[in-house]
Amino acid sequence: MRLEGKIAIITGGASGIGAATTRLLVQHGAKVTIADIQDDVGNLLVHEIGTEHIMFVHCNVTIESDIRNVVDATIGKFGKLDIMFSNAGIAGKPISSILDVNYDIIKNVFDVNVVGAFFCAKHAARVMISTKTKGSIIFTASVVATTYGDLPHTYVASKNAVLGLSKNVGVELGRYGIRVNCISPSGIGTPLALKTLGIDEREKAEKWFGEGGNLKGALLEEQDVANGVLYLASDDSKYVSGLNLVIDGGYSTTNVALGEAYKKLFLSTAQLESNNK
Ligand SMILES: NC(=O)c1ccc[n+]([C@@H]2O[C@H](COP(=O)([O-])OP(=O)(O)OC[C@H]3O[C@@H](n4cnc5c(N)ncnc54)[C@H](O)[C@@H]3O)[C@@H](O)[C@H]2O)c1
Repeated sequence: MRLEGKIAIITGGASGIGAATTRLLVQHGAKVTIADIQDDVGNLLVHEIGTEHIMFVHCNVTIESDIRNVVDATIGKFGKLDIMFSNAGIAGKPISSILDVNYDIIKNVFDVNVVGAFFCAKHAARVMISTKTKGSIIFTASVVATTYGDLPHTYVASKNAVLGLSKNVGVELGRYGIRVNCISPSGIGTPLALKTLGIDEREKAEKWFGEGGNLKGALLEEQDVANGVLYLASDDSKYVSGLNLVIDGGYSTTNVALGEAYKKLFLSTAQLESNNK
């Protein structure tokens, strides 16, 4: 029960990482408001967990008044706000070249991932400052804010913007005792990831992530990210601010390109030669 008495908002809480985090935070004693555009799925989760612990508020994070409303509704029902998990995100159109980019494609992704994150930070800070709550604001960025070339420019740029926002807001809010951190997972076969990768089955995506991952014999799951959020939300991280907690099994620390090129260019030839001796 590491969050006894704490109140949280989770945007994108109806599905994937947000839903797993909702369950875990409630298990640890928090009361949670799910803010999402998927009303049916969100309400199902409320039904499953119980209305005394959780509520659903329809919220499109691109609309500032929706976020103001979800924050005010949370204060209205639960009395305060300790944790803002700004997690809602989209991958956008799967463009593969800078030549394919146009204003609408950029705007679509940035409105949800970046503008939404700004409004979450703003309205969380508004109530945390006025109620003198030493809160925790957490953003979902991505491994694409530390390693490049895997996903579309628009998504990658948006997640780098989220990381920058997180660090800058953390500097401003430190004087109020409010901590601001990011969590950056690598691939998990959620609806967002399957759509982005154009894969229809989670199993296929997992096979791919397992093969491409650095840490063998393990697979990243929503629960692992939720565990990271629990840490950043709880007093276990009471002196942690400005952190980007990368949860990727070391993927972003690797660059196997030279080794692979060596094998392709030289090793097979060498092996052939030794076989011929
Ligand atoms: N799955 C991955 O591989 C991965 C890796 C790194 C980062 N992320 C990030 O994790 C976050 C959660 O994604 P997920 O993988 O759990 O995907 P998901 O599709 O399961 O969940 C995303 C949620 O965001 C909600 N959402 C989308 N647009 C919204 C809007 N305008 N307003 C409110 N809610 C909105 C969706 O309805 C959905 O419930 C995203 O920010 C994503 O970029 C995902």
